[in-house]
Amino acid sequence: MSNSNNTPLYTALMEYSMKKKPFHMPGHKLGSFGDMKQIDFTALDVTEANGLDNLYEAEGIIKEAMDKMCTYYGAQKTIFLTNGSTSGILTSLMVLCKPGDEVLIARNCHHSVWHALVLSGAIPIYIQPEYDESLGLMTVMSKEVIQEALQLYPKVKGAIIVSPTYEGIVSDIKDIAKVLHEAGKALIVDEAHGAHFGVSVDFPISSVKLGADLVIQSMHKTMPTLTQSALLHQGTDQFSYEHLVKTLRMVQTSSPSYAMMAMMDYARGYIEEHQDEIVKQYIEPLKEMRSRLVALQQLYVLDIPRDQYDMSKIIVFTHRTSIDGYTLGQYLEERYNIVVEASLPNYVILMTTVADQVKSLSELEKALIDIDDELTLKQNTNTADLYCSELTQVISELPKVQKGGYTPREVYYGDYKWCEIDHCLGKVTAETIMFYPPGIPILYMGEIFNEKHIQLIRTYAERLKGIQYKGNKINCKVLDIPLK
Ligand SMILES: Cc1ncc(COP(=O)(O)O)c(C=O)c1O
Repeated sequence: MSNSNNTPLYTALMEYSMKKKPFHMPGHKLGSFGDMKQIDFTALDVTEANGLDNLYEAEGIIKEAMDKMCTYYGAQKTIFLTNGSTSGILTSLMVLCKPGDEVLIARNCHHSVWHALVLSGAIPIYIQPEYDESLGLMTVMSKEVIQEALQLYPKVKGAIIVSPTYEGIVSDIKDIAKVLHEAGKALIVDEAHGAHFGVSVDFPISSVKLGADLVIQSMHKTMPTLTQSALLHQGTDQFSYEHLVKTLRMVQTSSPSYAMMAMMDYARGYIEEHQDEIVKQYIEPLKEMRSRLVALQQLYVLDIPRDQYDMSKIIVFTHRTSIDGYTLGQYLEERYNIVVEASLPNYVILMTTVADQVKSLSELEKALIDIDDELTLKQNTNTADLYCSELTQVISELPKVQKGGYTPREVYYGDYKWCEIDHCLGKVTAETIMFYPPGIPILYMGEIFNEKHIQLIRTYAERLKGIQYKGNKINCKVLDIPLK
């Protein structure tokens, strides 16, 4: 073993894994799933040797493993990804759109979608998901917004939306797929946070089974697999498998990790074979814990019906208390070694997975009850309410359907300059300007500044990412080209 001072990363991670109780990804929770700790990863880390198949021309053991995965998820075809959902999103959008094609893009999409727009050269038509004012949370994409967008932009090739959201909120995929398919358009669902939906009937139904054409899942986020392992499912035969694989090959490594692919195979096999055990040791205790946590007096645990919500996520709001989400995250880590997936101004996100059992769930429950008991003693003077109402104001002023000025590809290749906000009217933003956290965009790169944007940016400058705010000077990055 090498000197610990000489291996800062390795040493820190070993210490972390000895001490912390992760309620964050990856889903194996430091190897707490099944007999994962006994697995020799060096034995799995091989290459395309004789008899070991090839992901991009799969006809042997990789094909067999992908076919089993496909059956498990109820897809028509499934492709292993070893560069995360990101590689599936890049592939899907490039297959859907040629340069110059229009496509509907949910405004709460992950940034890999903007990278996919640069690569594909597609023209985004932005569609706005709903927003819960009382919780300060982006929620579902409504079919009505999609219908409106299709009427305004009938040439779009299809839509890409996020379901579930980071917080676990699920859109009505069946209805959305119907609306799009009736108009002859495709539906791509970024289900990066929903790879575990098939584990229990208490989770929502995966988009794969609800009519989506392509579905991308990060297995590593919510299932017990290695970081970067993910899946691209074909829910229909709208796209050709060969075209998808050819495109994937362009955006993904030429050395896909066998360890990752093998662990996806292992996790699926283990879950199938231990279904009853998983229900008894994880699903039932999780349901019981949730039913007790909704009774908390000060903290508020999000709880909505199963078809709209992924109950594996524990979203704890602090708006009824005197602390914000960051402080709650800090309390959990400093006092209980419980590490949250994310802390935001008015809530924290805690992830549970099949690697959790009664012990880890009880530790979390006890910590939240303790903190809740202590909070009852304090006065409610929370600034998060103010934050939510500011966000509500911003969202209510953004259009539901909006076409950008320039495409992300044009912005990527264009020259830019910094411009004082007073002179931005009619110019094209070269940077996405968003309310951060939680990451709600006011303007996507390529969109044109109007009076409303300028007013919002002036008002909320301190809370925005994507601008330069110094003293009382606000500068924005704009494209240095004439308007089209
Ligand atoms: C909604 C969403 N989509 C896609 C991704 C990209 O996933 P990956 O990290 O597996 O590439 C993420 C990652 O955080 C995400 O949250």
